Amino acid sequence: MNTVLVKQVKELLKEKDRLSALCNVTAAIFYSLDDISWAGYYFYKNGKLQLGPFQGKVACTSIELGKGVCGTAYEKKMLLNINDVTRFDGHIACDPDSRSELVVPLIHEGRIFGVLDIDSPNYRRFGVEEEETFEAIASLISKKLADG
Ligand code: SME
Repeated sequence: MNTVLVKQVKELLKEKDRLSALCNVTAAIFYSLDDISWAGYYFYKNGKLQLGPFQGKVACTSIELGKGVCGTAYEKKMLLNINDVTRFDGHIACDPDSRSELVVPLIHEGRIFGVLDIDSPNYRRFGVEEEETFEAIASLISKKLADG
């Protein structure tokens, strides 16, 4: 687990303004890891996943529940670590250069807020280390969202 990044996120989430805190967390993620092309959130809103703060290229603004890697992770309420998105049926290619993707649902005490999405241009960029790191980060973010 990347304890330095998790600690940094914990500090950034002390900011009272939720949007400011969430924006800074995407910057911390994006600039802490190598070979990352996108880092951000999709939040549940009006029956869909709606684009939230992010770092990276312009992305699709909404995703249907159950669609793409994000909508599937949300619907199944489970982390999805996709080594090669070109082999994921229904992958939504916001950025054609994206090759692997890690999506972690934002859940606190059974309530789901959306997903944290990290993309890489590299095949198999994410391993157990990243899964653990982003599960820890997602749980910190979810608590912040639940606390309002
Ligand atoms: N690839 C995602 C869409 C969001 S972008 O990667 C920023 C998906 O299949 O859900």
